[in-house]
This record gives sequence, C-alpha cells and structure tokens, in this order.
Amino acid sequence: MEFDTDFITPGEAAEEIIEMLGLDLQNVKVELGERSYEIIIGRKILGKLGMIMHQFRASKAAIISNDTVFRIYGDDILRSMKSNNTSPEVILVPDGEEFKDPLWAYYLHGRLLKARFDRDSILVALGGGVIGDITGYVASTYMRGVRFVQVPTTLLAQVDSSVGGKTGVNHPSGKNMIGTFYQPSLVMIDVDTLSTLPAREFGAGVAEIIKYGVIADRKLFDYLLDKKNSVLSLSDSIIGVIKRSCEIKAEVVSKDEREAGLRAILNFGHTIGHAIETATGYRRFLHGEAIAIGMCSAADLAVKMGIFGSDDSRLIKRIVRSYELPSDIPEDIAREDILNAMEVDKKTIAGVLRLILPESIGRVRIEEGVDRELIREVLF
Ligand SMILES: NC(=O)c1ccc[n+]([C@@H]2O[C@H](COP(=O)([O-])OP(=O)(O)OC[C@H]3O[C@@H](n4cnc5c(N)ncnc54)[C@H](O)[C@@H]3O)[C@@H](O)[C@H]2O)c1
Ligand SMILES: [Zn+2]
Repeated sequence: MEFDTDFITPGEAAEEIIEMLGLDLQNVKVELGERSYEIIIGRKILGKLGMIMHQFRASKAAIISNDTVFRIYGDDILRSMKSNNTSPEVILVPDGEEFKDPLWAYYLHGRLLKARFDRDSILVALGGGVIGDITGYVASTYMRGVRFVQVPTTLLAQVDSSVGGKTGVNHPSGKNMIGTFYQPSLVMIDVDTLSTLPAREFGAGVAEIIKYGVIADRKLFDYLLDKKNSVLSLSDSIIGVIKRSCEIKAEVVSKDEREAGLRAILNFGHTIGHAIETATGYRRFLHGEAIAIGMCSAADLAVKMGIFGSDDSRLIKRIVRSYELPSDIPEDIAREDILNAMEVDKKTIAGVLRLILPESIGRVRIEEGVDRELIREVLF
C-alpha cells in the first residue's frame, strides 16, 4: 500500500509557519485532538499570506471574501501569493449578512466545481464573521470537506467567530439554522486590519471581549476598563487582549466542542441579546451591540436573584457605556416581542429558559428554568 508522503497535517504546517514568521507574534493552540489547530496573532501578516499558504501544499487555493474587504487588502494578498507562485481563485460575495445564505453557498460550491477544486484544495476566508461562517460551511460540505484557513478582519471575527468551528448560513426561517461543526486548519489574525474597520464594528467586537472578561477573567475586564485608550488606539496591547480572548474561547471549545454543556457560557448576554436582535428585525443593532444590552440585562437579573452584587452589575454597565455600546433596552421595543423571541430561541429546549448569569466578574453559572416572572420584572 502506498501513502501520500507529501501530506501535511495542519499542526505541521502551523509549526513551519510560526517558525517562518519569526518571534514577533503570539499563538494560541485550540486543543481538539486530531482536529487541533493554531491561532496566530500579529502584525503585517497579510503580506505573508502567500508564504503561509504555501506551507499547506494544497492543489489549489481560493480566497473567499467580499468587495469591501478585498478592495482594501486584495492587492497586497495577491502580490504575496504571486511571489510564492500561487495564483488563487478569488471568489467574492456581496457584503452583508443577507448574503450568508444557502444560495450564496451554492454559488461558491459551483465556482469551486467549475475551477476543478479537489479534496486537496484549500479555502481562505478573508473577512468578518459573515465570510468566515459561509466559507467554513462551504469548506465542510464541498466534497465532504476540504481544508480552510480563517483570516478574520473584524474584531468580532478575531476574538469569536473564527475560533471554535461553528460554521453556517441563514435560512429564511431562522438565523444560523443551517450549519456544521467544522474546525479550520489555521486562524491567522493580522491586527493591522483593524485600522480600517468602522468604529461601530470595532465596538461590537469589544462587547464580546467584555463577555470573556465577565465569564472567565476579571483581569481582562479590568484591563478593558482601565486602558480604554490603549485598546482603541490599537497599540500592541490589543494583541494581548485578542490573544487572551482566543485563549478563553479555545479553552471552552476544547472542553466542549459541540456545546453539550460548558460551551453555553459563551452565550452570556446572548439569550436576551438575540431576542433583541429578533425583535428589531436584525436591522437596528449590530450583534455586539445587542449582546451589550443582553449582558446588562442578565446582570440585572442576577442581582434580582441575589446571586450577583449590584456594584459589579453597575461596573458592567459602566464598561459597556464607556465603549459607547448601548446598555438599556430602548423604550420603543415591545417587551412582549423580546419575551416571545426568547421562548423560540434555538437554545431554549422544551420550554426551559436557560440563561448564563454572572456570580462575580470572572465567573458565571448556567441557570436552567429561570422564573419568567423575574425576567418580566427586569425587562418591563
Ligand atoms: N461562527 C461563530 O461562532 C460565530 C460567532 C459570532 C458571530 N458569528 C457570525 O458572524 C457574523 C458577524 O460577523 P462580523 O461582526 O464580523 O460582521 P461582518 O462579517 O458583516 O463584517 C462587518 C462589516 O465590516 C466590513 N469589514 C470587515 N473587515 C473589515 C476591515 N478590516 N476593514 C473595513 N471593513 C471591514 C465587512 O465588509 C462588513 O461590512 C454574523 O453572521 C454572526 O452570525 C459567528
Ligand atoms: Zn456573539
């Protein structure tokens, strides 16, 4: 029997890449047995993408992105690919959550088939969570799975969506309802890409970092609170903040890849947050903004239940507001709509409302069957 000796595991490829890029970067390993992979965080990485992709010895490579991101970073990347004798297929989808759907996934499958991509090919997701989610979904389904690399360019994607292997698209009947668990081969975070990100999108990413602070790391929370200017100015400390966020997500995911239990803590702020997104038709708030409100409401609820201190609850609101994120549910949103949306959330199993509630900053608990009357008191 003969084996393909040219085959390289993601781990081996990542090792070579880390060595090649030198000392000036950070890395976090997501431990998932044979599906383990590295998250590499640094500056000026995009210009080395050609060299990096070369390490995967893929038969073909496609860069999947959108017009907005590719307009800014495409030239650099193509130059880098060219100098490594790689000419990737560039496939762009329009910019927007509404294009994260089965039809655009089908379009991507078609483009790959037409360009004769095979099982040794590789996809690169260059963009925010929308591009990462659809590319991961296409990678997991094309020929029963090809490798893919996440190159997240929004703060939210860098600290959250690119890590953990949830992929998917929206269906007209529900957001993120069609998808797979499928881990990338590598996540490459170039923090320099954040310099072109609109401020509001940056803030939405900060909301997820605040979430990590509350669920697992008081020091991270305090850092965000005390060093706001340094975070906003994208000084080198942002690398540490992103790294710490990825570590927390990686640790949770490696213990519970498919959300059988612990992974649910990553949903702190999300039950109420999602309900607000649903009640406002996904148009009024960015995801992170809705989550910011959700975290403040969950903190209020935890205070009411007597499991969380009111000083810490105020601190959560303070940090949220200091990053210009919303903390309160606007008056004009019907409370009944929010409650109804909570009932049909895909994480509500058999009518039992499950909420992640803080016990202190840095520690949360999963609370099943929260009293609906208490929730009403907090919301109304
Ligand atoms: N898979 C997961 O675990 C997971 C977790 C959280 C969120 N998500 C998904 O992620 C999506 C949201 O991701 P997002 O917040 O990154 O939104 P997004 O992908 O829509 O990006 C936001 C906007 O920023 C633009 N953009 C991206 N990078 C840029 C850059 N460097 N400079 C300038 N503009 C840039 C995009 O073109 C877009 O207009 C949602 O679909 C959500 O469901 C997935
Ligand atoms: Zn989120």
